[in-house]
Amino acid sequence: MIIKNLMVTGGCGFIGSNFIRDLLARPDFTGRIINVDKLTYAGNPENLAGIGEEYPGRYLFRKADICDRRLVRELFEMDEVDAVCHFAAESHVDRSIRHPEDFIQTNITGTFNLLETARASRGFVLFYQVSTDEVYGSLGAAGYFTEETPYRPNSPYSASKAAADHLVRAYHHTYGLPAIISNCSNNYGPYQFPEKLVPLMILNALEGKPLPVYGDGKNVRDWLYVGDHCDAIWTVMKEGAPGETYNIGGNSEMENIVIVEMICDVLDEMAPASPGRSRRNLIAFVKDRPGHDRRYAIDATKIRRELHWAPRESFVSGLRKTIAWYLDNRVWIDHVRSGSYQDWIQEHYGG
Ligand code: NAD
Ligand code: TYD
Repeated sequence: MIIKNLMVTGGCGFIGSNFIRDLLARPDFTGRIINVDKLTYAGNPENLAGIGEEYPGRYLFRKADICDRRLVRELFEMDEVDAVCHFAAESHVDRSIRHPEDFIQTNITGTFNLLETARASRGFVLFYQVSTDEVYGSLGAAGYFTEETPYRPNSPYSASKAAADHLVRAYHHTYGLPAIISNCSNNYGPYQFPEKLVPLMILNALEGKPLPVYGDGKNVRDWLYVGDHCDAIWTVMKEGAPGETYNIGGNSEMENIVIVEMICDVLDEMAPASPGRSRRNLIAFVKDRPGHDRRYAIDATKIRRELHWAPRESFVSGLRKTIAWYLDNRVWIDHVRSGSYQDWIQEHYGG
């Protein structure tokens, strides 16, 4: 399969921008990327600053809403799109609990628009749906999500992603659209918007603000460094079979409280606060998230066996890289912490 014009949706977000940088640097991708992004609060063109100049003729930015089907169709025609890697989404569970509407629009209707346009396009080679392990629901103390685990989403976010995944599957089954879905665990790394656990804790800890841990802090997530996720996506795009789904995980299950403590300890070492004072003192247990899934854990046997992919970073090595990046990129941090970010912090955490 040779991709000439790859539409990447949501390329100004956290994972999408890492993916675009990563892909353009690869010798085995020679095509062009058309980044379609609406630039919501989570989309930041600074994440890809200088990329057009670094790869002349290989990167185009189109500011567009995937909910606008006519515009999506125009872009497909104008840019001769032959494949889509679909990241664009509303992605934050807490926001979906407070304001679900945008999740339904972007995650479901937006995906539907892309699928409708793709199936009408000649020479279309791949629709790649970037999804989440959250569609599988919550695990007890034992067991793992496999590709056969039934979908049981519990939040408006995961329900909207599950709906989108079902549409992708149906378009493959009914219309023969060449489509692949991957379901990945929690990502962390450079360029993540500081509403998610890891960057929120890094920034609050640096500023000596409380570190709000939901409930008892014992909810478990499986963590994957974003660079490893991007590598996995490209592996699946090249070598995965249309109609298949692949689970992607980091073999790195951890309780939230353990992560927050690790962040405190690494920061104390890399950017010491006042002498002898541990940032662990900032940890504050707060009211739990409604419907908070207890445990996610990925069984990534399929991608390892069939496509020979495994993560390179351990959680410790990935976290050190991530913290170093946030320490080195204060200007980026200042810019993303705009008025809308302040409004969210005020609405969600109060005070
Ligand atoms: P993000 O919130 O950082 O970025 C989302 C991007 O989509 C932003 O650039 C935003 O402007 C854009 N966007 C939103 N609505 C749009 C619309 N209507 N039209 C065009 N663009 C729009 O998200 P992320 O963390 O980078 O996640 C990317 C994808 O990966 C999502 O589909 C998410 O479900 C999936 N995923 C994320 C994680 C994670 O831990 N972050 C894990 C597994 C899967
Ligand atoms: P998050 O980064 O929002 O990802 P997701 O909900 O998609 O897994 O949250 C990761 C975990 O951290 C989740 O169990 C909720 C918890 N959490 C906190 O304890 N405090 C916080 O302030 C945030 C944002 C998350």
